[in-house]
Amino acid sequence: MVAHNLLPAIPRSTPALSLRVRAKDAVADGVVSLTLDHPDGLRLRDWTPGAHIDLVLPDGTTRQYSLCGDRWDAHSYRIAVLREPAGRGGSAYVHDGLMPGDRVGVGGPHNHFPLVPADRYLFIAGGIGITPVLPMIQQAELVGAEWQLLYGGCTRASMAFRTDLTRAHGERVRVRPQDEYGLLDLAAWLSTPAPATRVYCCGPAPLLTAVQEACAHWPDHSLRTERFAAAVRSEPVRRTPFEVELRRTGRTVTVTPDVSVLHAARRAGAEVLSSCEQGTCGTCLVPVLGGTPDHRDAVLADHERAAGDCMLPCVSRSHSDRLVLDL
Ligand code: FES
Repeated sequence: MVAHNLLPAIPRSTPALSLRVRAKDAVADGVVSLTLDHPDGLRLRDWTPGAHIDLVLPDGTTRQYSLCGDRWDAHSYRIAVLREPAGRGGSAYVHDGLMPGDRVGVGGPHNHFPLVPADRYLFIAGGIGITPVLPMIQQAELVGAEWQLLYGGCTRASMAFRTDLTRAHGERVRVRPQDEYGLLDLAAWLSTPAPATRVYCCGPAPLLTAVQEACAHWPDHSLRTERFAAAVRSEPVRRTPFEVELRRTGRTVTVTPDVSVLHAARRAGAEVLSSCEQGTCGTCLVPVLGGTPDHRDAVLADHERAAGDCMLPCVSRSHSDRLVLDL
C-alpha cells in the first residue's frame, strides 16, 4: 500500500524572504545548483529532510524545489534545478536568468515528504528526484539507520551528485543510468517486503507509479513518494454543484463544476494560500470540519484521505452535498 506524506492539520503561512544567490554551479547535464543565503548574513528558517522551498518567479508565481544541502547549515539553502524545456518557465528562469549576487524571493520551507523513523530505508530516486534524498541520507547516517539508494537517470552525465554519493557511500549507492542498464529493476529490489523498512521514492511519474505497484504487497505505509508533477486525475466523483461553508468567514458558497473550491472560497473573502494550484505542493491545505472531500491531489497519504479531515482545495472537490471548511 502507498503511504504518502504526513501533513500538519493547519495551513502554514510564511512570508517570502529575499535571499541572495551566493553560488550557481553546474552539477550535471542540464542541472544547476543554487546556494542561497541572507544578504545580511542572518540565520535562515530551519528545515528537515524532504522539505522544499517556494522560489518566487519575477511574475509572482512560485515553483517548488527540494532542499538538498546540509540541514545543519543554518545560513544557506541549496537547491538543484533541472532545465525543463517543456516547463512553465521556472527552470529557464533559474538556468538563464539568475546569477550569483541576484536576489530571489523564497517562501517556506515546507515539508510534505518527511523522513519518519525506521530501522532501514530504501531510497529510490529518478533523475532530479535525487534532491530530497540527499538530506535523508545525511539523516539516516546521523541516526545510524541502515540504508541503500537505487538511483536511476537517463545517462550518467545527467545524474546530479552521483560522484559525491558513490565516493562517500560506496556500494550502498547503486547508480543505474538507463542507457546502460535499462529501467530500474524494481522487481528485484521490491519483490520481498523487508522488515522495518521504509521505501522513499522521488522521481518522474512513471517511476512513482511503477514503485507504487511494486510495493502493493508491502505493509501499509511502507512507501512514501513525492511527486513534482501533477498526476493524471480521474474525473471528479460528482459533476453537480455543491455547497461549501466557510466557517470562520461566515459565508456559504456554491461551487460549480467549472470553479475550484480554492477560487470559490477566495471570491467569498476567505484567505487561503496557494502555490502550485495543481495539487502537488500542499500549500493550500485546509482543515475539513464537515462533509466528505473528493481528494484529487498528489500530496495526501491514503490514511489522510480516509480520515477526511483536511483537503487541498486547489484540486479537490466534494463527495457530499456540503463541505464545511475551517476558513
Ligand atoms: Fe499546491 Fe494546492 S496550491 S496543492
